[in-house]
Amino acid sequence: MTTEELERLLVEQPVELLHRLARGRVHRHFRAGKRRLIELLLRHSAENRQGFESDLLALIADRQSHPVGPAARPAVERPRAAAHGRPHPAHHEPEHHESPVALGAWLEGIGVPPPQPFVPDPWQEEALAKLQQGDVIVSVPTGSGKTYVAVEAARRAMEENRTVIYTSPLKALSNTKYTEFCRIFGAERVGILTGDRRDNAQAPLLIMTTEILRNLLYDAAGGEIDLRLDTLGLVILDESQYLADPERGVVWEETIIFCPSQARLLLLSASIGNPHDIADWLTSIRITPCYLIKHSKRTVPLRAGYLHPDGKLTPLFRTVGIPHGHPNYLHPEARRLFARYEDETMPSGRRR
Ligand SMILES: Nc1ncnc2c1ncn2[C@@H]1O[C@H](COP(=O)(O)OP(=O)(O)OP(=O)(O)O)[C@@H](O)[C@H]1O
Ligand SMILES: [Mg+2]
Repeated sequence: MTTEELERLLVEQPVELLHRLARGRVHRHFRAGKRRLIELLLRHSAENRQGFESDLLALIADRQSHPVGPAARPAVERPRAAAHGRPHPAHHEPEHHESPVALGAWLEGIGVPPPQPFVPDPWQEEALAKLQQGDVIVSVPTGSGKTYVAVEAARRAMEENRTVIYTSPLKALSNTKYTEFCRIFGAERVGILTGDRRDNAQAPLLIMTTEILRNLLYDAAGGEIDLRLDTLGLVILDESQYLADPERGVVWEETIIFCPSQARLLLLSASIGNPHDIADWLTSIRITPCYLIKHSKRTVPLRAGYLHPDGKLTPLFRTVGIPHGHPNYLHPEARRLFARYEDETMPSGRRR
């Protein structure tokens, strides 16, 4: 078939079939909308056109011999009927007895909470206590309060006249932390070293990008010390999941390996998949043990919404929270808006 015919055939297919075709062919295909998916598939088809076409035809034949109800594809025309109507026997989406959450209920409770006296959580206390005995990895969900652990650990180290280095992977985050730490400790006690900025480099608390620290540790290993590394008491590596980054991960790895043995390491992250392994590795290469502080309770619950380019916002799922393990639990309004988006963005002449 010609490329035009192939494209037309792809456009006619439901997006689920295109995702099946994209498996193993297009990286992260599940992130692409229908239009983009077709572009990527067409690009890929050039590599092995014959195999591509025969896979496509096989999927179409398979679909025809096991037809699914019309509601399985985003229902542009009658989304409400699809959501509330009697389910087709072959329709995989679970039957919904409860009505989907309304936008108002989904937004409820978002805002500034009423002020309360600050009481550290037990895991925060535990992290600080373990830091007295060795290195610590804190692996807790986002918004849990890892900064409190960093700030208190820095305060305690400085009280013992030790230098503290705090690193983040981004210059922007380093700048934000610099402002925050200046407010907490006073500008004279805080310095910053990034590719763009060098202020108060002799301060006891230094904020820098991890690359800058790695370079300083390299220089120190070669005898060139421009920082008081001999008094270094604590190194905080925020967002330490970057250890797994294919390109930059080596910087975190080398920073940990070259970190002076008298300094404690504090690794903070919301998203390390295997923190036990990292803790074991640290224990094996450092002179003190590494303790893992881990929990998965979300202090700030996640809510998922869908924002259409025309500004219409709707819950993404039928429930306020995220229904893990129920990928088909989409809110009918989100389904309708997304189908409309696909329809509107499809090149003219190819609209379904
Ligand atoms: N024990 C606590 N009780 C109440 N609020 C707290 C507590 N600890 C921290 N917080 C507040 O929680 C909010 C989020 O904290 P923080 O920015 O430290 O989160 P985080 O764990 O670093 O998240 P991220 O992974 O996004 O960087 C802050 O406003 C902080 O003041
Ligand atoms: Mg943080």
